[in-house]
Amino acid sequence: MAQRTLNTALVAFSLINFALADGSYRSRSDLSPPHLNITIPCEGRCAEGYLFVAPFTGHPDPVDHGPLQGAPYILSDTGDLVWSGFSYFSIWAGNFQAARWKGQDVLFSFEGAHNSLHGHGHGHHTLLDQHYNNVRELRAGNHLISDKHEFIIIDEKTALIQIYHPIEIDLSPWGGKEGQTWIVDARLQELDIETGEVLFEWSSLDHVDPFESALPLPLGQAGIAYNSSTAWDYFHINSITKGSDGHYLLSARHASTLYKINGTDGSVIWRLGGQNSDFTLGPNVTFGFQHHARYLSGHHDAVETISLFDNSVYGSESGGGGDKEVHLYPFSRGKYIELNHRAKTATLVKAFHPPNDSILAKSQGSLQTLPNHNVLINWGSEGQITEYSPDGTPIFHAFLDSGFLQDKIQNYRAFRYNWTGFSPETPALVAEEVSPTGRTNLHVSWNGDTATALWNFFWTEKSTSGAGEEETSTKQSKKVKCSGFETVLRIPAGFPGRAISHVYVQAFDGSGNLLATSGTVTPVKAHWRGGKSRLVKQDVVGAT
Ligand SMILES: *[C@@H]1O[C@H](CO)[C@@H](O)[C@H](O)[C@H]1NC(C)=O
Ligand SMILES: *[C@@H]1O[C@H](CO)[C@@H](O)[C@H](O)[C@H]1NC(C)=O
Ligand SMILES: *[C@@H]1O[C@H](CO)[C@@H](O)[C@H](O)[C@H]1NC(C)=O
Ligand SMILES: *[C@@H]1O[C@H](CO)[C@@H](O)[C@H](O)[C@H]1NC(C)=O
Ligand SMILES: *[C@@H]1O[C@H](CO)[C@@H](O)[C@H](O)[C@H]1NC(C)=O
Ligand SMILES: *[C@@H]1O[C@H](CO)[C@@H](O)[C@H](O)[C@H]1NC(C)=O
Repeated sequence: MAQRTLNTALVAFSLINFALADGSYRSRSDLSPPHLNITIPCEGRCAEGYLFVAPFTGHPDPVDHGPLQGAPYILSDTGDLVWSGFSYFSIWAGNFQAARWKGQDVLFSFEGAHNSLHGHGHGHHTLLDQHYNNVRELRAGNHLISDKHEFIIIDEKTALIQIYHPIEIDLSPWGGKEGQTWIVDARLQELDIETGEVLFEWSSLDHVDPFESALPLPLGQAGIAYNSSTAWDYFHINSITKGSDGHYLLSARHASTLYKINGTDGSVIWRLGGQNSDFTLGPNVTFGFQHHARYLSGHHDAVETISLFDNSVYGSESGGGGDKEVHLYPFSRGKYIELNHRAKTATLVKAFHPPNDSILAKSQGSLQTLPNHNVLINWGSEGQITEYSPDGTPIFHAFLDSGFLQDKIQNYRAFRYNWTGFSPETPALVAEEVSPTGRTNLHVSWNGDTATALWNFFWTEKSTSGAGEEETSTKQSKKVKCSGFETVLRIPAGFPGRAISHVYVQAFDGSGNLLATSGTVTPVKAHWRGGKSRLVKQDVVGAT
């Protein structure tokens, strides 16, 4: 009786939370991962590895908008879940990646408060090990607060981060009127990840005149400077990397310029783009409000190639902005740009155009060059990702959610990485008796596990072979190949009166080693009526 009351309470609870639990994974009805709308499937052409994304809603009110659980996710090329980071990384999380630190594979993400109006984050970076345990939380040094945009691990030892630090100064030289006194000093820090020690700090106001901004104070697009929360964000660092020469490459979105910063004295070595470019820009090199500048190849003093995501537009995601929106090109693109340091020229080597020419990312975005030279582009505010073959042909395209949930979905950066994860959870097992078929379905999943090759299901079956006959009880088991996040074994209907009990499952890796054993469950009557699984799953053909 107590059990029945509890079940009723659980059903009521799950109905209240209907919007949260979408039922696509029956063993984890608490999870609502995004359901990719894949318009160009990989079909074997994509690079090896999983997709790393952290989609979030662009709606001011996150209820009933996609993604239902905004969080870092590891997904397969078909959009199947590998790991839901919902509840591992909290609050607002973004810039989710895999990396190496001190010889071990780690995951990291920014987590903290998110000011979507100004595109600022206030929080820290968290590193998880392969068991998804928190191994480090890193905060900015010198009493400053980390922003969300950059976190990159250099030589498995240090991290580059940036900070938006509002300060009050006399802004009249830049057109500030009475009361307009606040400006954002964009800073970068290089930190020792282990100790948190600040090894290098750079302040934009010490080295870059606010006149270099592409968003002048009087126009008010980047803050009206009346107080710290509306400080003029004249520079807006959104990416930093460090070259083998010890200098930094920095992307300043609001100056539409890349800067090379001397790693010893912080002076500006060169500027690419913007108002004071040290390079003559060839056809189609001009970029604006760009993201994610990275070194690709070459020598820092001769000819080198860099990649970036060229938004070519500035405006608010909501489509507002009106005359304050700035457009440089009809759509956003990924670019490879070759810098010739002797001739002082910048040449477009290759451009990656959106498969859908109307993608114009008003904010965010990334370009990752993969080891096989494929390119993964993330269209930021437009909530889409594309993989290209090295010649620029789109070979994969996905919207980061489906149906109405895709509306205004955003994703700051996206990556493809290899990852081996060992789940700290136990395998989640649900046995459901499906009426009227009389079938019993066993669903198992193990959030974050990448090692299981085979599931071995065990259960006890009680049956009477006919009216009045003796009851028999047999132990059964069946092996099923792991078929993605959730593997399902469908036990066909038996004689009337058959009862399945003591269900559990064991996970085995590809070499036949036992990895884990689930708890033991009893079948429940399936009460999921939606049938709304947006993911098409194949029936599992049991391999015994
Ligand atoms: C900052 O200035 C804006 C614009 O004038 C105003 O709406 C907001 O209330 C101010 N915030 C604070 C904390 O004073
Ligand atoms: C970087 O700064 C140091 C110290 O001022 C200087 O000696 C060096 O020449 C600079 N390097 C470049 C490439 O500007
Ligand atoms: C520059 O872009 C224009 C418009 O997309 C295109 O017609 C032209 O071929 C491009 N030139 C180069 C050198 O890429
Ligand atoms: C092209 O992109 C625009 C903007 O993201 C979107 O509204 C439209 O549905 C897309 N069309 C296709 C065919 O993907
Ligand atoms: C997938 O995206 C295409 C292109 O925008 C759209 O036409 C289609 O309706 C989307 N499908 C779903 C299920 O969201
Ligand atoms: C994943 O590993 C395979 C095998 O080592 C390698 O070929 C591939 O480039 C890796 N993928 C990524 C995205 O690093």
